[in-house]
Amino acid sequence: MQKILIANQKGGCGKTSIAINLAAALANQGKTVALADADPQKSSLQWLKMRPDDAATIIGVDWRDSDDIGEIPKHLQKDDWLIIDAPGALSGNKAQPLIAECKAILIPVLPAFFDIHSTKRFLKSLEDIKRIRKGKVDIYLVANRVRSQLMQDHTPTDKLVSLFDDIGQQPLAWLSERSIYQALAERGLSIFDKSQKPYRDIQTQWQPIIEMLAHEPVGTNSPNQSGNQAAVTPSRITPQTTKTSKTTKTSNWYE
Ligand SMILES: Nc1ncnc2c1ncn2[C@@H]1O[C@H](COP(=O)(O)OP(=O)(O)OP(=O)(O)O)[C@@H](O)[C@H]1O
Ligand SMILES: [Mg+2]
Repeated sequence: MQKILIANQKGGCGKTSIAINLAAALANQGKTVALADADPQKSSLQWLKMRPDDAATIIGVDWRDSDDIGEIPKHLQKDDWLIIDAPGALSGNKAQPLIAECKAILIPVLPAFFDIHSTKRFLKSLEDIKRIRKGKVDIYLVANRVRSQLMQDHTPTDKLVSLFDDIGQQPLAWLSERSIYQALAERGLSIFDKSQKPYRDIQTQWQPIIEMLAHEPVGTNSPNQSGNQAAVTPSRITPQTTKTSKTTKTSNWYE
C-alpha cells in the first residue's frame, strides 16, 4: 500500500483539494485508489458522494473516528494507493498511526506570511514523531493558491521564493489560484477528470508531485526525477531556490 498523507495544521490551505485531485489523478492513470478522510468535516467523503458514476473510481475510507485510523479495505494490494486527508489538528495519538508507513507527506502552504510561519511550527511539531525524526518519511511542501502576479514565465518570482526561504525548503510544486478547482469539486470532479487543453495546462503544475510519487522509493529523501530537489525532512531542512518548476502559463478562461 502506497500511503500519502496530506497535512498541515493551518486551516484552508488546500488539504482536501490536494487530496481529492491527487486521488483523481492516480485513479485516472488506472490505479486502484482509496481516499481516507480523517477530518471530522468529512469534506473528502462528501466530494466522493457527489462523484459521477462514470468518473474514475475512488474508494472512500472513513477515518474520522480515531479508532478507525489504519483500517484499510481488505481488497487493497501492495501497489494500490491510499491518499489521506488529515485533520487540522494532527498531533499525538492521531498523528502516529496516520504517519505510520507513509511514503510521503504533502504539506499544502498558502504563500503568505502567517501561513509560512504556521507551517514552520507544524514542521517543528512533526519532529516529535519518531519515524519522521529518523528520516523515514519524505516531506514536501506544495505552494497552493499562488496568484499569477507571483509567477513569471512559469517560475516563482524572487519574492515568492524568499517567502519560502524562511522555512528553509522550497515547494515541490506551485499550484495557481484557480476558481475551477472549487467549481469542479462541487460536482465531485477534479481537474484530472477533464482532458481539454485548459485543464491539461493546470495539470502540468502537478507534474513534479506525480513524478515524485511514481519514482521515489519509500523513505529515501532523494531528489525526484523532475530535478526539483525539494525533499527534505524537517530535521534536515536545506534552503533551496527551486526555479525549475515545470508550470505552463494558464489562461483565465473561467475566472
Ligand atoms: N489552487 C486553488 N485555487 C483556488 N481555490 C482553491 C485552491 N485550492 C483550494 N482552494 C479553495 O480553498 C478553500 C479551502 O480549500 P480546502 O478545503 O482544500 O482546504 P483545507 O486545508 O482542506 O481546509 P480545512 O482546514 O478546513 O480542512 C476551498 O474553497 C477550495 O476550493
Ligand atoms: Mg479539508
